[in-house]
Amino acid sequence: MSELLVINGQQRISGRINVSGAKNAAVAILPASVLAENNPVKITNLPRITDINKLIEILKALGADVIEDEANERNLLIDPTNVNSHTPPGMMINKLRASYYLMGSLLGRFLQVEIPMPGGCDLGPRPIDQHIKGFTALGATVELEHGIVKIKAKKLQGAYIYLDVVSVGATINIMLAASRAEGKTVIENAAKEPEIVDVANFLNAMGAQVRGAGTDVIKIEGAKELRSVEHCVIPDRIEAGTFMIAAAATYGDALVEGVIPKHLDPVIAKLKEVGAGVEVGPDWVRIKAPNGLAPTDIKTFPYPGFPTDLQPPMMVLLTRAPGTSIVSENVFERRFRHVEELKKMGAQIKLEGRTAIIEGGSQLTGAPISAMDLRGGAAFVIAGLISQGETYLRGLEHIDRGYESIESRFRKLGVNLERLAETE
Ligand code: EPZ
Repeated sequence: MSELLVINGQQRISGRINVSGAKNAAVAILPASVLAENNPVKITNLPRITDINKLIEILKALGADVIEDEANERNLLIDPTNVNSHTPPGMMINKLRASYYLMGSLLGRFLQVEIPMPGGCDLGPRPIDQHIKGFTALGATVELEHGIVKIKAKKLQGAYIYLDVVSVGATINIMLAASRAEGKTVIENAAKEPEIVDVANFLNAMGAQVRGAGTDVIKIEGAKELRSVEHCVIPDRIEAGTFMIAAAATYGDALVEGVIPKHLDPVIAKLKEVGAGVEVGPDWVRIKAPNGLAPTDIKTFPYPGFPTDLQPPMMVLLTRAPGTSIVSENVFERRFRHVEELKKMGAQIKLEGRTAIIEGGSQLTGAPISAMDLRGGAAFVIAGLISQGETYLRGLEHIDRGYESIESRFRKLGVNLERLAETE
């Protein structure tokens, strides 16, 4: 049954919240557990979002034993010993973009994998040519037949791989396969996101030799066997940034705890530019914006640039800042699908290719709108909070992929959203 969020407008965020584990690290670490052949791994601080729940089901379908910690649903024990298939069930795969990490992990484990082309948010074309470039360099053959990617290798041999495009997914996927290749692999022009460093730390704790993660040159020495390990997933900088931007956009005051402030540098810089007060502690950030906001320009780039995943929430904030703000989306070809819905609420936004020109300062009005992707959906929650009147937000399945029970998370921050079944 479909659901909707009813969001009352003119609310101010005021409260404190603990950030969950990083979705974009967890969705790679779960598939990577397959590489620890006969050794169970314990993963803690997992976000309990639908992407993770789907990956747990896929791992079970492949033969893994997944034991949930009764005391804490964020902790899992995964025993990959009985994983006996290199063909994850297609029906489950294409609902989840991050399923593509099973390519690198199953290739590393079985020297073969057959998996449908990945699904995920529609942000424009999302090719996997750089992933394939890496697997081919490691000695695999790759065929695409009726939407199924078939990858096979007699053995995986370390190689030098230059990524034509800075890609988070390709960097991680190649790292996974290379961790079981013979010899040394060098990934040049690698992405530097903190989630990549977290995956590298997980692999190294299992006994792999991954050096340089977080820089644009990563060196991986293949390992014969990967052993049991316990790994705690890093905090989610995108979830943290969503709450920080929401606090500033609502002229509120939020204490966001359990973060790694360094990962939030670009967001902190931009919130200061729009006039928010930002206090930074060892593992918390406090955002206050009682006196309104100023316009600024945003350019998204791979880390440590401003994260593309926070472009939609930041655009909502900028609709409130009197004056002209320019948002350039340099990572994805088509990540402005949220603009049309914001214009229904009265936002003054003009699109020119990958640039959005925002005339801020106008009051948004609540409206019935639908999320079409995860971060656009989060942006619409913020838009509902700052609007005049009620907003009815549908497409919650997109939001639930990356935010645990978004209505209860925002209630902790002092605002109320209500999730209703469509019939009500
Ligand atoms: C990851 O997607 C994240 N998803 C995205 O977060 C995030 O927006 C993105 O990285 C950029 O930071 C996960 O980690 C599960 P890319 P990914 O490969 O790996 C092009 C969210 O909301 N490209 O870094 O798919 C691609 O088209 C999601 O949490 C190629 O051309 O992103 C894009 O324009 C949304 N060929 C650019 O590179 C390839 O082989 C960056 O994509 C791969 C990518």
